[in-house]
Amino acid sequence: MHQHSRGVQEQVGELISRYIRHYESKTRRSRQIFEHASQLIPSGTSHNIRYFEPYPFSTRMASGKYIYDVDGNAYTDYWMGHWSLILGHAPKVVVDVLRERVVEGTMFGTVSEHALRLAETINRLMPRAEMLRFSSTGSEATMYAIRLARAYTGRRVVAKMEGGWHGFNTDLMHSVTYPFDEPEGRGILEEESRYVIALPFNDIDASTRLLDTVRDDLACIIVEPLLGGAGCIPADRGYLHALQEYARRSGALFILDEVVTGFRVSLHGAQHVYSLEPDLFTLGKVAGGGLPIGVVCGLNEVMSLADVRGKGKGDRVGIGGGTYSENPLSMSAGLAVLEYLARHEHIYERLEMLGDEARRGIDRVMSDHGIMVKSTGMGSLFLTHFLKGNISDVRSARDAAECDTAMQRLYHFALLSIHDIFFLPNKLGAISVEHDSIDIRRLIDASERVAGDIAYARAHGHGTPSSS
Ligand SMILES: Cc1ncc(COP(=O)(O)O)c(C=O)c1O
Repeated sequence: MHQHSRGVQEQVGELISRYIRHYESKTRRSRQIFEHASQLIPSGTSHNIRYFEPYPFSTRMASGKYIYDVDGNAYTDYWMGHWSLILGHAPKVVVDVLRERVVEGTMFGTVSEHALRLAETINRLMPRAEMLRFSSTGSEATMYAIRLARAYTGRRVVAKMEGGWHGFNTDLMHSVTYPFDEPEGRGILEEESRYVIALPFNDIDASTRLLDTVRDDLACIIVEPLLGGAGCIPADRGYLHALQEYARRSGALFILDEVVTGFRVSLHGAQHVYSLEPDLFTLGKVAGGGLPIGVVCGLNEVMSLADVRGKGKGDRVGIGGGTYSENPLSMSAGLAVLEYLARHEHIYERLEMLGDEARRGIDRVMSDHGIMVKSTGMGSLFLTHFLKGNISDVRSARDAAECDTAMQRLYHFALLSIHDIFFLPNKLGAISVEHDSIDIRRLIDASERVAGDIAYARAHGHGTPSSS
């Protein structure tokens, strides 16, 4: 290895150690909890991405834009409950309704008007939801969407994106993480992805060539309008329209996964922003108002296949189910948030402005220190990528994966350790209505300090002769 690059690595390694020591010294109780939890719960958490090195802090409570750990630290939160909390933690409209409802029963397991109210509101805000069904997670909603598509078309193949994340359902656990052509882990059989193909995001020519190979058996194309987990990358308008058009022409269904973008990028979802008309779409996160939810929505003609009335097993599609589906508390919290958003639609403009400020400001201070980054995103969602090699822009999951993800992790961890600003390392950030310009200024200033640390480490690494 070139002796200068070894010197740089050593200096950056020293910087990481300093951040880790600082974090460890202020999160002692969190460490104990994590060590105990990891004896009972693999990697100490029930969601893989919640784990990060050296151990995740343990949350005591959260309110507004802050999340508090058991050691007494308060962090400005940009993870915002997997980006679901557009009104911040424990917003008054949700707390008030839950206080009232919780004494009326937390679980009915029967039909109730609460579900109807939320369904009506979703239908009014997103008219392509002619009919819908509720589940407890987004993973179920996407699983149901592709099952409906297969049933409706009588075809088998599902086309998804490279890097596309639709939750943990087996069919869609394909081509999620880099390298995209390798299986997603043990326990998932290769045969299970036999009827799933992965398209390169934002590349219509290559996507069309792949779609052509399965055209007659293509049941659906499922796509996130903003590639979320794989890098916070907005789709090109032309790309989404080309996919929608391809699905129409070939007799397949066009499914938009709006679990992240629904009620987040606009009151009417990304389908409104992009002027799309999906046959089916999925919701989750914001729609649950901070309580568990998933929703599969779509055209009457397709959704009504799920109607069990007067049908034998051979005629209906088995979707829906789940003990806690239509849970009255999720229905009420979701409704409270959507009604608030409908009354305060102007918040989207403000969130977008803050998002633009963050994206532009972070890129500027990094570049002032000679660090080339690109902050991607849309509206209140953003992620800073550290450019590397010949990557000069980030337009696909592959581009994002080929950036310097170790440096991205170091940046997020430094914000957490030194500056009390929480991003889940390597994941996009979400701004809520509780954040303001001062928070974004603080984030940019903190980013500048981290950029200074990195630039210093690099400069001194260059001046450090290697010992070998
Ligand atoms: C686009 C998208 N679809 C589906 C899901 C799965 O939702 P859930 O985690 O509620 O199962 C996620 C989760 O992050 C997501 O980002």
